[in-house]
Order: sequence, then C-alpha cells, then structure tokens
Amino acid sequence: MGNKHSKKTNRLSKQLKEIEHLISPVAVPVNAGEVDFHSEKETYTFFLEPVIATAPQVDATEIVRQAQEGYGGWIAASHQEPEKRQELMPDDYQHPTGNQPEQLLHFFTVTDIHITDGEFPAHGIYSKCGGGIVSVYSEMMHYTTHVLDSAIHSVNAIHHQNPLDFGLSMGDNTNNAMYNELRWSIDIFDGKEINLDFGVNPNPRIGPRKDFYDDFMAVGLNQQIPWYQIIGNHDHIWPDKPLKAVSGDPSRRFLSRMEWMQEFFDTETQPRGHGFTAANLESGFACYSFEPKEGVPIKVIVLDNTQRDDEPNVLGYAHGSLDQERFDWLVEELEAGQQAGKLMIIAAHIPIGVEYQEPLTRPFMSWSTISPVPEQELIEKLQSYPNLILWVAGHRHRNTITPVKSPDPGQPERGFWVVETASLRDFPQNFRSFEILKNADDSISIVTKNINPTIRAGSFASIARSYAVAAQQIFNGRTELLPTGSCNGELLVSIAKPMPQKIGMAAELDIP
Ligand SMILES: [Fe+2]
Repeated sequence: MGNKHSKKTNRLSKQLKEIEHLISPVAVPVNAGEVDFHSEKETYTFFLEPVIATAPQVDATEIVRQAQEGYGGWIAASHQEPEKRQELMPDDYQHPTGNQPEQLLHFFTVTDIHITDGEFPAHGIYSKCGGGIVSVYSEMMHYTTHVLDSAIHSVNAIHHQNPLDFGLSMGDNTNNAMYNELRWSIDIFDGKEINLDFGVNPNPRIGPRKDFYDDFMAVGLNQQIPWYQIIGNHDHIWPDKPLKAVSGDPSRRFLSRMEWMQEFFDTETQPRGHGFTAANLESGFACYSFEPKEGVPIKVIVLDNTQRDDEPNVLGYAHGSLDQERFDWLVEELEAGQQAGKLMIIAAHIPIGVEYQEPLTRPFMSWSTISPVPEQELIEKLQSYPNLILWVAGHRHRNTITPVKSPDPGQPERGFWVVETASLRDFPQNFRSFEILKNADDSISIVTKNINPTIRAGSFASIARSYAVAAQQIFNGRTELLPTGSCNGELLVSIAKPMPQKIGMAAELDIP
C-alpha cells in the first residue's frame, strides 16, 4: 500500500516538473479600443463582441499562438436598451402612458465563476488537456479570482448609483468543490488578501502582481449589501470524492455538503451563513427562503435543484433534479407566500423550461430523466401560484430570458419568467442586475441587464477576458441569442386582481 502510494507521489512530482514551465501567464495583447472602465463614475453597462478570428484553428493549450493568430481580442459595443417583453401579458395589454414606476427591489446575480485551483493534479487545466471542452480546460481558469474581484468592484459601482438591496451568488463558485477554491470565492466577497500560491511554481515572474500566483487584496463587497448563496452542481458533486487532502496540501481537500455550507459562516460580509442556517448545517438540506427588504412583500425562495450526491450517473451530474422532500418544501414555501400575499422569486442554480437544443449540452444539462419530480410536473405546479413572478438561474453559462406562459389565457398571472445569468468565467463574463418595479397600472416590470465587470487595461481581469474571448473562438462556444430572445429586458408580469384571498397583497403592495 505504502509502496503504491509513493509510486503515485513520484509519478505526480515527475508530472509536476514536466509541466512547471507551462504554468506561467502569457499576456495576450488586448484590442486597442479597450476602455478603462475601472471607475465608479463610468457607465457600467456595455457589450463586447469577439473579434471574429480568420486565423487557422489552434489548440486551446497553444496560448502564445492564440495571441499571434489574432485570437482573444474584443471591441466595446454600444449600450443595449432593455427590450420590452410582454409575452405574459394579455394580448390587448397597453403599457400605461406616462408610467412612473416605483422600485420595489434592486439586486444582482453572479454565477458560475468556477474558481479553480490551477495546481490541482486531477484537473484538466493541470495537464493542459481539455479534450475540446472549455469547462475542462481553458487558460482563463487561472484568472477567475481576478474576474470575480472586478465583478465585485462593478457591483459596488452600481450600488453607488442605484442602491442594491441584496445579491445572489448562484452557485458553481468552485470548479472542483474544494476547500481552497471555496475560501477564495468567499474571501473575495469579504475583501481579504487572496493568495493562490500552492508552491508548485511559487513565483513564475519576480515581483508583486506580475503573475496570477501573486497575492492581491480583494476590493470586497460593499458591507451594506447582503449576499446569499445557492449551491451548484460543481460545489458538491464529485462522486466518490475523498474527504481528505489531495496531494498532501490540507487546503486542497474536497468538502462535504455540510462543510461547504459551514464555510459561509466564516465571513465578514452580511448575513453570516449567507442564507444558510444552523438547521441547514445539521441536515445538509441546502434550501431556505428570505424576505430581502422590510416593508416590501417580496419573498425569495432559494432552491437546491442539483442532483443528490447518491443519484446514479445518467449522463453526468449536471442535470436539474428534485426529490420529494425538496419538492414538498418548495410547495410549502409557495403556499405560505401566496397566502401572505407576497410576490415570489425562486432562485436556483439550474433553470427550468428553457431551450435545450444544443446538441452538446442537451443530454447533459437538461432536467434529469430520473428526477423523482419531472420537469413538466414542477412547471405545472409553479403555474398554480399567481404570485410567482420570476425564476433566476445560472448553470448553462447562457444569457436567456424565457417566458413560461399561463396555461389559461384568462389568468395571465399564472405565467412567470425564467432568466438565466451567464457565467462570470466564460465569454461574455457577465453578471446581471434586476430591478422589480411596480407600474402605474399595478403590473410588475422586471428590468434585467447584463453587466461586464469593470476592468483595467492590462490587468489580470483583462487578460482573463482575452482568454475567454479566445476560448469562445476556439471552442465555438454558445453565446448566440436563442429564439427566446433578449439579453437585457423589461419583463412585464400581471398581478391577479381582484382576488379575495389577495386583498392583503394589494394593500401591502401599495408602498408609500
Ligand atoms: Fe453548474
């Protein structure tokens, strides 16, 4: 046994030596049109387009050649006004003229940053082998901490202009469900010193802030903004994972679901636990609900809809799934919210009711075929709650806005919106803001925008964006708009009225 172990260790150190010189950053020249958005006074919404590469196909590991061949550049595009979407409204709906909407809630969502320990020996990034799948290997994985840091900077800038009530970190904070990766993600929210150095190649370039292993001080989320955490599939499912250190480093260890939740209590930002409670820690049940703003009757239901750790492997573990226990809990939460006249938002890592037409992702990222609660049954149940207005999700690394219409045209309020937020790691590295507005006619508008993190020219976040663009070009990533449409939208929702059981809500929504 000992002999076997040392053979493995020897093989590992040999591999480390072989690739050591490869783990070094190469600055890809960025497009000359890049603007320094690293200022709280700058406009924070803008769009990027990849420069279409006319260059020959190159391997994702050939990062120097990527730059020489023109991959990885981008141009800033003009601001896109939110598209008004009325699919959930009655056919003859007219938006009130001279509407002066009242803001009920303002929040942000950030997701799928996939912070990666670049020296984790079991990972594709380590061996420079991705098999053509961007989520297994791409050079920007080394820079994810810097991208999250710049996103936090942007969130603070938004807060400065239009105060945020809260934020949602929607899962896949980590790529490998490891302690060190999770700590980096929480510590970036907390504004702590981030040190990615694990000793394999401690200082590829001499001097501070010269390479991605050099420590840096995260800007930290504005302390006034509470943020809540959702569990993603990458945060807990690694079948048969050993709960001990990998490769002798105590920080490089897989976390159990409870340990993962526990880490959110070790924080300097609000609230402690970031939504999880002592009861969650005891049971491992990663669902909870909260009401983000006093006096505003809106309830957020945070749902763990990832697959259970003990589910059999049917084309992977990236499917949406609900067992009976979580479904019953969800129904109870919806019932209570409906009865109390609250508007409701479900926040889950995995979306529902979206298009899964891409040949590659369809079988792997759709709803689980063995989920105890099938997707259609869930959707029908959700449609029975008129006060459910929105389902927000991450997971597919896509920007989509999908209406789930009411099955009864006479009751349009039974419809709701599903909005997916793109990955912060992969192109276009967006997060989202949401404003819930009450219109003059008592309808609700959900205004959502994609936001690119602010980046400084030549910064690691800027290099990361270059790599994300290059990966998009090389792997032919999927960022085109789906038929369901817009990236930025104003999504109209009708509120049921008059309904006797909701007199309370009508009164409560009349916020001074
Ligand atoms: Fe995911």
